[in-house]
Amino acid sequence: MNKQLHNRVEEIAEEVIEIRRWIHQHAELSFHEKKTSNYITQRLEEIGGGLIITHPTATSVMAVLKTDRKGPVIAIRADIDALPMDECSNLPFASQNKGAMHSCGHDGHAAILLGAARLLVEYKENLCGEIRFIFQHAEELPPGGAVEVIQAGVLDHVDEVYGLHLVSVQKTGSFGIKSGILTSATDCFRITVKGAGGHSSMPYACKDPIVIGAEIITSIQTILSRRIKASEQAVVSVCQVSAGDAYNIIPNEMKIIGSVRSYSIEVRDLIKRLLCELSRGIAQAHGADAENEYEEGYDSIYNDPALTDFAESIITDQFGADQIEHIGMIIPGDDFSEYQKVCPGFFLELGTGNAEKGTEFPHHNPKYVMDEDALPIGVEYLTALVLGRSKAFTS
Ligand code: NI
Repeated sequence: MNKQLHNRVEEIAEEVIEIRRWIHQHAELSFHEKKTSNYITQRLEEIGGGLIITHPTATSVMAVLKTDRKGPVIAIRADIDALPMDECSNLPFASQNKGAMHSCGHDGHAAILLGAARLLVEYKENLCGEIRFIFQHAEELPPGGAVEVIQAGVLDHVDEVYGLHLVSVQKTGSFGIKSGILTSATDCFRITVKGAGGHSSMPYACKDPIVIGAEIITSIQTILSRRIKASEQAVVSVCQVSAGDAYNIIPNEMKIIGSVRSYSIEVRDLIKRLLCELSRGIAQAHGADAENEYEEGYDSIYNDPALTDFAESIITDQFGADQIEHIGMIIPGDDFSEYQKVCPGFFLELGTGNAEKGTEFPHHNPKYVMDEDALPIGVEYLTALVLGRSKAFTS
């Protein structure tokens, strides 16, 4: 264990929490993180130490720490955007911006990365290669900010990339680790049943899209139960249905919108095909038709096994093996997967759950609260990880 690092983290813990609170209070939506990115830039400028600060896109920030020594180029990414919702947490630093709330914990991610940047600058003499701190905009809104910052070159010549997500379902300070596939691919489907409307008293003269749509919704439930192997995992949920404007008019159309979560390309493609076949087949059996749209969202996060092992060894050394939780595949997606298409990467889940601090509300809930004690732990992890990578390279 690096005791000196641990002590130094304790000294800056309060400052990291203050940073998180400022970002929380000034929550901004995807692609609109103007004040947030300005604030991050200011904090990075205060750190100084030769950090080269750039703006890959209008609301993202990157700081580069170059050493004069040969070594790997390591990128660490934090997302910085909030969600479109009103905050009901009653926290003294609750969002001042109506319709924007940091209910996913990205404020914490940004604060952790700023803390790690500060400490790694202090430890520069122990580092080799180059470290890039990426504060990415717009994770919450597919196609997401990752694609844009990668196009802007943030990963050019990068050897490995790291990221984390705070999660309230794990106890504060526990590290959720999984090698290989970690998250689901997150897609959206839209079905439009094209019927023929008319008077409610004469359904025989119409092609009622609501009755056809109801049958389609029921049939969608058989995709997982009857058409996909029990050993595979996926979710298909219908979440939005709309049709009609009056009690006595059969409408022309019905819209069915939902989401698909899957963990393999085969299952993803199969669900995509079955949604189309089922809806068109059922609609046509009733003399109507169905139009299908399928939007592929974020791909699965794939954790490189070697990097996973390395991170696990660092965590065991710095925090103890009892702080590691080997988790299964998780459902929420993240555009961190885009980075891993360019270079190997590792992403973990850091617990912020503490019943005594009222963290029982899930992420994306207007009453979401995080246990901020996890923030310095995140700083310590990232700093120890990068220091460990440099040591492994030079020894
Ligand atoms: Ni998130």
